Amino acid sequence: MPSRRSLLLGAAGLMASGCRASAQPDTAVPPLKSIAPYRVGTCAMTGQLDDPAWTRLALEHYNQITPEWEMKMEYILTPDGYRFDAPDRIADWCEAHGMALHGTTLVWYSQGEEAFRGLSPVDYRQQFDRYIAAVAGRYAGKVRGWDVINEAVAEDGNGLRQHHWAQNLGELDHMVRAFEQAKLADPDAVLFINDYNLENNPKKGATFLKLVERLLNAGAPVGGIGTQSHLDIEIPEGQISAFIHEAAQFGLPLHISELDASRRREGGPPDVRSVSFRTTQQFDRIAELTTAYSRLPEHKRYGLTLWGVRDTDSWLRRPPHDDGKDSPLAFDAFERPTAVARALAESWT
Ligand code: G3I
Repeated sequence: MPSRRSLLLGAAGLMASGCRASAQPDTAVPPLKSIAPYRVGTCAMTGQLDDPAWTRLALEHYNQITPEWEMKMEYILTPDGYRFDAPDRIADWCEAHGMALHGTTLVWYSQGEEAFRGLSPVDYRQQFDRYIAAVAGRYAGKVRGWDVINEAVAEDGNGLRQHHWAQNLGELDHMVRAFEQAKLADPDAVLFINDYNLENNPKKGATFLKLVERLLNAGAPVGGIGTQSHLDIEIPEGQISAFIHEAAQFGLPLHISELDASRRREGGPPDVRSVSFRTTQQFDRIAELTTAYSRLPEHKRYGLTLWGVRDTDSWLRRPPHDDGKDSPLAFDAFERPTAVARALAESWT
């Protein structure tokens, strides 16, 4: 008798080979939000709110939204001042549809340098504080939480990133300041530090957790830990659960904040893996993540957010990453559940 897992994988594998899901029995998954023991989110941009297929799938399976880019400094901070039309629309849509809202991100190394260039030290500090107060203040009572500091750890895990925020306000001080300003602006929001490759690269994960400890010791009101979980499906079994176990030691809520599991290999030797082999790897890594995360006590499970609804909504299906075939999310271009959806559904039922 084939195991339940092989049946689940079989359907996913068949679909991955292009077999129409409708021809396969039992290809549907229940609404993910109805079987998950915590909030299941996805990211959104305003253009998607006008797409009936996107909104139907989003409303059926998810109960939390993270604006993919329109609540970031790159959208809000313009030469003429702050621009809130798009993030306001997403916040209003969430309220109208009973969706929770998670904000990303207040301070990111990759944004703001142009806008802050040339400011005197006093003005730089004032504009930093003013931005956080304005943005976090505007959505106070609307967002569940914020990614206050995003991607602070160096790419290779050796120390922290160097960037204009750190150069002007101090490597750790700018982070403490950001958390303090966010706390003042929205005392009820869960304030996260968020980063990526924490499971894929154990060294980076360890540096990140040391940073969390330093921030807490410095008195920063860090309220949560975000791991983006853009999974490398070729990592050894156990790395994901080990990171989740270590992160949970702080007793803070953990957010799986941007989950996807590319089947592509960026760089390295030619990829000779078959689609079904990659699908098995994808299934196994997602299952490891959700099993470890679901075992956490409730107060440590802020939620699990996938970074997109359909594969074709994914950043991984946009240049320069796109190979036209990647299937990193829970639903494919035809809205059929993928191996990611099956791995989630299996670990939640
Ligand atoms: O939609 C506009 C389009 O109208 C315009 O013509 C075009 C050129 O200006 O820009 C388009 O918006 C782009 C948007 O993605 C939608 O494609 C923005 O410029 C672009 O900056 C934005 O990139 C986002 C990126 O973060 C930077 O904010 C990606 O969508 C988003 O997936 C990505 O998400 C990041 C997380 O925040 C942090 N972790 C990694 C993750 C993936 O890179």
